Amino acid sequence: MPRFPSVARTLPSLRRTLDDLRTRRATIALVPTMGALHDGHLALVRQARRRASKVVVSIFVNPTQFAPHEDFGSYPRTWKADMAKLAAERVDLVWNPGVGTMYPPGFATRISPEGPATADLEDRFRPHFFGGVATVVGKLFTQCRPDVAIFGQKDYQQLKVVTRMAADLDLGVKVVGIPTVRERDGLAMSSRNVYLSPEQRAVAPTLHRAMKDAAKRLRNGDDLKIAMAEGTRTIANAGFALDYFEARHAETLAPILSIEDGPIRLLVAAKIGTTRLIDNIGV
Ligand code: PAJ
Repeated sequence: MPRFPSVARTLPSLRRTLDDLRTRRATIALVPTMGALHDGHLALVRQARRRASKVVVSIFVNPTQFAPHEDFGSYPRTWKADMAKLAAERVDLVWNPGVGTMYPPGFATRISPEGPATADLEDRFRPHFFGGVATVVGKLFTQCRPDVAIFGQKDYQQLKVVTRMAADLDLGVKVVGIPTVRERDGLAMSSRNVYLSPEQRAVAPTLHRAMKDAAKRLRNGDDLKIAMAEGTRTIANAGFALDYFEARHAETLAPILSIEDGPIRLLVAAKIGTTRLIDNIGV
C-alpha cells in the first residue's frame, strides 16, 4: 500500500512543508488541478516526477472561473479516489485550500490576462473564464513557488494564457505542456465526461474524428475553408451544438487562412446535451 501524500490546507502549513523541502535542496514541480482525477491528470503528475525531486498537486475547484450558470456546484468531487491515485504516483504533497483560504473576505485583486486570453475562442463563450484561471494559477504559483508547473495541451488556450502570465509577471516558473491523453476511441479524457449519457458518450469521439479528418485534408493540400466546413458538418450531424471549430496559429492563436500560415492548431468546443466538451490537435 503506497503512503498517502501529506495534505496542506492552510498557507502556514503549506509554507512550512515547502520551506523544509527547499532547505533540503529539493526542486519542486506543481500540477494544478480541480480534482476528479483521471489518467490525463496522472500523465501530468508523471511528467512532474521526471522534472523535479518533489511533486506537489493542487486540488481546488476554483469558483472564480465558473459563471453563475455553470457547473461549480455539481463539479465532480472525488477526494478519496483522488488521494489513492496520487499515493500510487508517490506524490509528495497535496495543496487543498478551502475557498475562504484562497479568497478570504475582502479579496479584491484579479489578474486580467490579454493576448491569448482574448483570442476569441473560449473567451467568446466563457468571458469570465481566463481571468479566474489566471488569478488562481498566479496565486498557486506564488503560494508554491515551484520550479516547474505542468499543464495539459487538452486546454490549449489555457496553456498559452498561463505560459504568458508566468512570463509577464516574472514568476520564475517554467510552464510545461503535455499532450492530451485520450480514451481508446479518441475522446479526450475530461472530468466532465462523467456527465455524458451512454448515447452521448457513444457520439462524443466524433469531435476528435472530425479534427483528425480535417487535419489530414489540410496536410493533403485541401482548401482550408472546405476542410473546416466538412468538419463542422460532421460535428453538427452527430448532434452537437457547435460553439467553434477553428484553425489557428499554434503559437499566437491568430486566425489562419491557409496551411502556409501555420503551424496550425485545430480547436473545437461543442455541447452535447448540457455537457460542453473542448478538444484540439496539431496539424
Ligand atoms: P482541470 O480541468 O482539473 O485540469 C488540470 C490539468 O489537467 C490542466 O492542465 C488540464 O489541461 C490537464 N488535463 C485535463 N485533461 C487532460 C487530458 N485528457 N490529457 C492531458 N491533460 C489533461 O484546468 C484546470 O483544471 C483548471 O483550469 C486549473 C488550471 C487547475 C485552474 O483552476
